[in-house]
Amino acid sequence: MRVAILCLLNLLIGSDGWSDHRKRKFPTNFLFGAATSAYQVEGGWNADGKGESIWDKFLHDNPDLVADGRNGDVASDSYHQWRRDVEMLRELGVDFYRFSISWSRVLPTGFENEINEAGFKYYDNLIDELLKHEIQPMVTLYHFELPQPLQELGGWTNPLSVTWFENYAKLVFRRYADKVKFWITINQPNTVCMEGYASGIMAPGLNSKDVGGYECAKNVLLAHAKAYRAYQTEFKKKYEGNVGISIAVNWFEALSNTTENNEAAERARAFEFGLYLDPIWSKKGDFPDLVKKIVDKKSTEQGFKTSRLPKLTAAEVKLIKGSADFLGMNHYTTFQVQPSQTQFEAPSVEDDRNTEYTQGPAWRAAKSPWLKSAPYGLYKACLHLNLNYDYLPIIITEHGWSSDPGLEDQDRVDNMRGYLGALLLAMEDGTEVKGYTAWSLMDNVEWIAGTSERFGLYEVDFESEQKTRTARLSALVYKHIIESREVEDAWRPSNLKIAITKNDKKNNYRVEL
Ligand SMILES: *[C@@H]1O[C@H](CO)[C@@H](O)[C@H](O)[C@H]1NC(C)=O
Repeated sequence: MRVAILCLLNLLIGSDGWSDHRKRKFPTNFLFGAATSAYQVEGGWNADGKGESIWDKFLHDNPDLVADGRNGDVASDSYHQWRRDVEMLRELGVDFYRFSISWSRVLPTGFENEINEAGFKYYDNLIDELLKHEIQPMVTLYHFELPQPLQELGGWTNPLSVTWFENYAKLVFRRYADKVKFWITINQPNTVCMEGYASGIMAPGLNSKDVGGYECAKNVLLAHAKAYRAYQTEFKKKYEGNVGISIAVNWFEALSNTTENNEAAERARAFEFGLYLDPIWSKKGDFPDLVKKIVDKKSTEQGFKTSRLPKLTAAEVKLIKGSADFLGMNHYTTFQVQPSQTQFEAPSVEDDRNTEYTQGPAWRAAKSPWLKSAPYGLYKACLHLNLNYDYLPIIITEHGWSSDPGLEDQDRVDNMRGYLGALLLAMEDGTEVKGYTAWSLMDNVEWIAGTSERFGLYEVDFESEQKTRTARLSALVYKHIIESREVEDAWRPSNLKIAITKNDKKNNYRVEL
């Protein structure tokens, strides 16, 4: 924990929109990257022996859920266009590419008795092409798509899911440990569990608001920890890679400075990200006391014999505590919190949390209804992490902006500059941030929003046969930031042409965290 007095000064600057004239730069060993995930870009949903995932099934069974009808069957066709993807990464000049492995592509049944060599071959090719151009692969093992056969056994609510994931993770580590130095076990456990098993707006679309979400949270954390420990035991010494987890840490602050609102904001932070951060990074481990207190009490009142929030045994607390080399922080926006103004159905996670979120009326709005630009929120979230947890190296593993199609994406540029400026201040004030990942390299399937919300630095023409990718203004601006290591608000390219430039900073293959 290293927080300088300066933070107060920066907070003032941030909120009042002053600017001082110190030139802040990202250090030379700071890593810049871009991200995608398998379901969102690959397509080839049943190609060459791939099995069915929960997202394949969810959107095949519920085609009307998808805003514009485009699901992940073809998506951005990265299953065939991966050479072009790597070319784009070279044009940007990034240090690393964050992508995910589709569990169903390599293990069609979810189990390791049946290995799909053709599926692995796709990732072999992608990883080798990246390394050929000195771009580090950062591999997410689980980005929302469980093999459907495992879902039929209860998915993440089945305690056996811990072992299923551990075995899958070991298999992938074994295959790529010599080539991949950055691993992310699970992407956004809160989304996996609370949107997949509780609110049901993500696959598998279960509506277990009372119990399922919490059971999932426990199993996902254990699965993550088992995979981390397996890497430590079998691979760390020889390959010296880093294993982390990506957690959505948006900022939640009180709508106004009243006791009710401050307490509601605290609940929001505890339920939205404390539930996953505390077991790994807090001093005592385990779920946050606040969440335990609320759910235990309500469960008793509701007639449950045991709390709807499962207990972690002492051995489980120990297993999870400290089980990450870095926090992958996914940050997009800020919410202002007050106690819920309406009564939620109970028992439910929403009723337990009892919060209502709004956003600043003046904040610039993206295409996604939940996404508004408030860069100071990233600064505050970083300081919150720094103040509340012991040494916690952070890589921003997602940050981005959604828009309509179009190459002149000034809003995405402004949003990126605002947040990178806030990040520089947070780093100056002691937050250990080692890297930043733009979401997303290219337009893709934004889950049930289909392709109606474009997140790409590169536009994808989904009507074209090759899913033609074209650099947006933001791609050129990001390239310039990576080259110059600073955020220059006035910089503008003379045209929208992007090309591979020779890059000789190649000092980043190994990074100490
Ligand atoms: C909130 O109110 C308390 C008590 O009135 C005050 O001490 C504190 O400085 C206020 N905080 C902010 C951020 O305004």
